[in-house]
Amino acid sequence: MDEPRPFAPRREPLDEEEPVPEAVSAGRHHLKVPEPAPLIEHGPARIIAVANQKGGVGKTTSTINLGAALAEYGRKVLLVDFDPQGALSIGLGVQAHELDSTIYNLLMERGVVVDDVIRQTSVEGLDLLPSNIDLSAAEVQLVTEVGREQALGRALKPVLDRYDVILIDCQPSLGLLTINALACADQVLIPLACEFFSLRGVALLMDTIEKVQDRLNPDLRILGILATMFDPRTLHTREVRQRVIEAFGDLVFEAVINRTVRFPETTVAGEPITTWAPTSNGAEAYRLAAREVLAR
Ligand SMILES: Nc1ncnc2c1ncn2[C@@H]1O[C@H](COP(=O)(O)OP(=O)(O)O)[C@@H](O)[C@H]1O
Ligand SMILES: [Mg+2]
Repeated sequence: MDEPRPFAPRREPLDEEEPVPEAVSAGRHHLKVPEPAPLIEHGPARIIAVANQKGGVGKTTSTINLGAALAEYGRKVLLVDFDPQGALSIGLGVQAHELDSTIYNLLMERGVVVDDVIRQTSVEGLDLLPSNIDLSAAEVQLVTEVGREQALGRALKPVLDRYDVILIDCQPSLGLLTINALACADQVLIPLACEFFSLRGVALLMDTIEKVQDRLNPDLRILGILATMFDPRTLHTREVRQRVIEAFGDLVFEAVINRTVRFPETTVAGEPITTWAPTSNGAEAYRLAAREVLAR
């Protein structure tokens, strides 16, 4: 799915098919999430790794749309595509396989600096460090390097002062790339699909986070768990979300991301939902999530 399909859906005013507004949030303490104050100056960045070793749970979608919502609130945001699939880059309309320099070059080649690789996106205040399939070679090559777990942290250091938030979209595994992300992150955000079995993998992820805390990054914290793929019409998904809240309590974000075709559409359009369908339920849900990120 590298090329944007030629029949990208038209942008239309929204009113149809949008699910009930209450599903934007669980309604527990919605009103307590404040509007973020405007910033006078920027940085140093808080680094957030968006991680879950299960694929298809909304990591990439959450990285793009949370990033775009944070940018709407005046934050300077850098999105790091740290999955060789390059879905984050593609989702922002960047044909990453055609790029001369990507995060792979930044990690592996001396003389490549971060500014050679950073690109602006169509959203003001939202920048991208793109990747493509080359990054899968980095995972292999890094294994023999000294300080292999800190390669990403070293690469990001020069731009920390420029951004307020850096979001790292991790690959669906707990391999060396994800460990690099966790090793340099301040916080981990865990998207969790509201489906049976999605809870199982979280224990393993928590284990990995604890190991990284012990061995590499004692300051790493869990920012929260974001429920995604929520279908307010089915009992099953409501039950799963309830179980997530029972298991993780206040770690669970108030914001809930509904399952809607609006998200696959945005991939084809190559832009975030906040600009593609700005008044949609999905855009509002990611704005609420962004306010929660800033409040936590
Ligand atoms: N809330 C949602 N509702 C419907 N489809 C979604 C939603 N979030 C993501 N998707 C779609 O599901 C697929 C997987 O999402 P993605 O964000 O790529 O997950 P991950 O990065 O965890 O693998 C993509 O095709 C994406 O467009
Ligand atoms: Mg992904």
